[in-house]
Amino acid sequence: MRIDILTLFPGMFTGPLTESIVKRAQAKGLVDIHLTDMRDFAHDKHRTADDRPFGGGVGMVLRPAVVFDAVQSIPREPQAKVLLTSPQGRVFDQKYAVELSEETQLVFICGHYEGIDERIKDLVVTEEVSIGDYVLTGGELPAMVMVDSIIRLLPGVLGKAESPLQDSFYEGLLDYPHYTRPEEFQGLSVPTVLLSGNHAEIARWRRKQSLYRTLVRRPELLDKAPLTPEDRRWLAEFDPAFARSYN
Ligand code: ADE
Repeated sequence: MRIDILTLFPGMFTGPLTESIVKRAQAKGLVDIHLTDMRDFAHDKHRTADDRPFGGGVGMVLRPAVVFDAVQSIPREPQAKVLLTSPQGRVFDQKYAVELSEETQLVFICGHYEGIDERIKDLVVTEEVSIGDYVLTGGELPAMVMVDSIIRLLPGVLGKAESPLQDSFYEGLLDYPHYTRPEEFQGLSVPTVLLSGNHAEIARWRRKQSLYRTLVRRPELLDKAPLTPEDRRWLAEFDPAFARSYN
């Protein structure tokens, strides 16, 4: 996969792209990440990337020519997805991450200031994408978040032990609790089932924990999660209202 990131602040990406799993994925040639400084496409004396909004109002708007020329400078396959970070976009989630991880080229345009000239959306943007209902100072952090979660899904990036199939959200449920040595810590013990060596029992306990946590913390996720009849019976034991909602 090739990922292009168009930004006014390329220096912000140094840490996230040069450490840990993302660094390893690039070193293994599983992903090829290119940063483009959009300011290189602002050709006036002061390299101005923004301008005042037509119609007045507060804030500045990213100039269309700067963004357009930056996008055009990239070697782009016809099927490349061009994503614009914006609080107005489709909200990024694990399903969206999986979809994007199946692409061969992604181009992220990091929005800034009050926004970007609307015509850029008509001309080059495939989709606007938000990382949640809050406002950041720019699209760099959202791009990093999305790039990180997409890269870890690429085949070969994670070892078998860290497989994305084990993820919280993989099955649309929250993760179960994890424990490591020692068996007792500050007076708190590891649940005995985990020490039993009975793998079927352990799997059942973990599934129940995931279901219970999801029911308590994020019940809306249960509407979309693929649930077995046994899952539904457990949920009904935890919460009789759940049973009623499925009758
Ligand atoms: N730019 C500012 N806030 C954002 C958000 N929540 N998601 C994506 N881009 C943004």
